[in-house]
Amino acid sequence: MIQKAPGVEDIFPDKIEKWNFVQKTAREIFARYNFKEIILPIMEYTEVFARGLGDETDIVSKEMFTFEDRGGRSLTLRPEGTAPTVRAFVENGEFNRLSINKFFYSGPMFRAERPQRGRLRQFNQVGAELFGSSDPYHDFEIIAMINDFTRSVGIEKYKILLNSIGCSNCRKEYISKLKEYYQSKQDVLCQDCNKRLTNNTLRLLDCKQKSCLELKNNAPLIRDFFDEECSEHFTKVKQYLQANNIPFTEEPHLVRGLDYYNKTTFEFVSEDLGGQNAFAAGGRYDSLVERFGGNPTPAIGFAAGIERILLLIENKSIPSKGIDAYIIHSCEEAFKEAMSILSTLRSKGFSVDFDPSSKSFKSQFKKADREKASYAIIIGEDELRTGSLTVKNLTSGEQELVLKNDLVDYLSRDR
Ligand code: HAM
Repeated sequence: MIQKAPGVEDIFPDKIEKWNFVQKTAREIFARYNFKEIILPIMEYTEVFARGLGDETDIVSKEMFTFEDRGGRSLTLRPEGTAPTVRAFVENGEFNRLSINKFFYSGPMFRAERPQRGRLRQFNQVGAELFGSSDPYHDFEIIAMINDFTRSVGIEKYKILLNSIGCSNCRKEYISKLKEYYQSKQDVLCQDCNKRLTNNTLRLLDCKQKSCLELKNNAPLIRDFFDEECSEHFTKVKQYLQANNIPFTEEPHLVRGLDYYNKTTFEFVSEDLGGQNAFAAGGRYDSLVERFGGNPTPAIGFAAGIERILLLIENKSIPSKGIDAYIIHSCEEAFKEAMSILSTLRSKGFSVDFDPSSKSFKSQFKKADREKASYAIIIGEDELRTGSLTVKNLTSGEQELVLKNDLVDYLSRDR
């Protein structure tokens, strides 16, 4: 038997209903906030991610699925959606004419991580990116939108972790203080963090190794190094959240695993996920558009992991609907009649099915139940003789004789 590759999933119809519910909810909520859909390629030139995410990030340094095309150019399956959105935004310059652009996307991402519960190599994100505003209102708006989405899919136990990592100016002094702090503790740091100390000091705060986590508790805080603008921006974001009753926890060491962020960073986390506790995350990235060759354009966005959301609503029931009708037939002539009714009902927009080869009423009724059909339409010898059909409501158990010509109207009453 050929098996699937590690860290990828097959999604069968029994999971699709919830999957579609999450996607549909995301689309509805994002539309309320005036975000418009974009569909971007699944692969990009590797440079998009190397330049966008930062060479020293875990994603770029060890988690990308990279390969050469036939012309020897390096391509990568997208590990995330922000850098491709920025690439597309800059490449399709016409969007720059609008002052604010709001995009959302949905689709698979690829990271060569060690697979475990909630951590896949092919996973799916819904995400949104807003270009053209440095106003703290929009930091609030993105967080409020994720909060609406989280509640609408039925997640109740979660926390919003919030931080600001300031701008490059305030970070300069902070990073030298952070280096100083960690340099004296080099022998306790893990191997990766010893490298981070020279290459990417801020990322020291992102290490999940126990010994490094303990050191983090006493590390200097970026907020003590904020300039006036960063301080005011963060204060406003917090005020807007408070004014709108969106609770959050300030997490002064939250830096996130990607290099493009500045100012606001946030994560939506739930203890129910275990180790991989973030189901949505994002932040501001005011210099990324420029780094891709565009005009200076402040930006903010987020992405949520569909599989992690599905884990969180695993035991919740969602409004579930089966097909409209299942046709039950008794003989060759009834089979022909069933085919004609199937075709009429399908052309009128009803979801209908039957089993052409079964003649037993009992087994056909069982199949109607399995399909969660609202109605069973029964065609037996009596019905063939009188030109009518027996329509049974499978929820209430009531049944009625309905003339064939009245069937569409009869079923339409429920629409
Ligand atoms: P991220 O934190 O790397 O951010 O990913 C966002 C979400 O994707 C995570 O919170 C998680 O739910 C999900 N996720 C990430 N990796 C995996 C995985 N291996 N398996 C399953 N789910 C996963 C970004 O991707 C940024 N582009 C977010 C952003 C948008 N920032 C600004 N704009």
